[in-house]
Amino acid sequence: MTRPTPNKAEDRQGGLPAITAFMRGKHLRTKSELFYSTTLGRAFWGDSLDLLPGIPDKSIDLILTSPPFALKRKKEYGNEDEDKYVEWFMEFARHFHRILSPSGSFVLDLGGAYLPGFPVRSIYQFELLVRLVRETGFYLAQEFYHYNPARLPAPAEWVNVRRIRVKDSVNVVWWLSKSQNPKADNRKVLKPYSDSMLSLFKNGYKAKLRPSGHDISDKFSKNNGGAIPANLLELANTDSNSSYQKMCRKAGLKVHPARFPPGFADFFVKFLTSEGDLVFDPFAGSNTTGLVAETLGRNWIASELSEEYLKGSIFRFDPRVLQPATVGRIA
Ligand SMILES: C[S@@+](CC[C@H](N)C(=O)[O-])C[C@H]1O[C@@H](n2cnc3c(N)ncnc32)[C@H](O)[C@@H]1O
Repeated sequence: MTRPTPNKAEDRQGGLPAITAFMRGKHLRTKSELFYSTTLGRAFWGDSLDLLPGIPDKSIDLILTSPPFALKRKKEYGNEDEDKYVEWFMEFARHFHRILSPSGSFVLDLGGAYLPGFPVRSIYQFELLVRLVRETGFYLAQEFYHYNPARLPAPAEWVNVRRIRVKDSVNVVWWLSKSQNPKADNRKVLKPYSDSMLSLFKNGYKAKLRPSGHDISDKFSKNNGGAIPANLLELANTDSNSSYQKMCRKAGLKVHPARFPPGFADFFVKFLTSEGDLVFDPFAGSNTTGLVAETLGRNWIASELSEEYLKGSIFRFDPRVLQPATVGRIA
């Protein structure tokens, strides 16, 4: 076992000054263009592989991202062919490991895919996980499942027409870390207690043995301010009329088709970072991660290939946090 690693700025190569310089754009060796900035963050336009070499070692506290998925059905935002997908991702992964602070986390949201033309699934998420752990040196801190009950049944051929598969409503989320003890605190993401738990608190609890033989002692009758969440995150992505979407439509910009539900980014940013930490999304899309980080007082960096998605993402931010140069981007 390695020792728990404290999350001090000194752990990071170059310490706080290097991060501050990076956030100000000094010493930035990158082909990516600074597209806009806010009080706490910077959004870059370009291939993240161009930005990554300029990011200092051990400087990032959380990488939270959802890359283009390995669906064979081509989507507009640049899916790699599944066979090449894992190989393509490994180049990013080596940089991610290098730039992560010793107590940092890398949270990767991945959608599933059927093999084109067959009612059987690709196992790319699992192949990728094995390589991230075995080759890149990440630890699997915990796996999560991101359940979207509002997802439509697909592919129609297997689910609606032949009725031989059920609805696929879950993304896997690999929570990876650089050490065995990444910074994390589940007290920051407690859920409201269920009604039955609240009535237990009110009416008292009789300690007894569970069928499994576990002794459920009095400690479960203590109100700790909320329930510890499960690794199944139920978050419907039903929002079709947010101000981000309205403003994109008004400006003639495409609304990003594969956005995180804000609750997803909110959960991991709160769970795995503290105020002042630095969060990075290398496949930022509409920059849900940046918005959540800004709202929660974390510094952030976003990188996105599509100028159109970046332009639209500016609408997510309160104009008061946008730096002056940004305004020209959406004028
Ligand atoms: C699944 S989307 C991310 C959506 C995002 N989580 C959100 O909430 O809007 C993946 C994004 O990665 C971008 N992308 C693909 N390859 C990239 C690369 N090499 N560098 C930077 N961005 C890339 C795509 O343009 C796409 O917007």
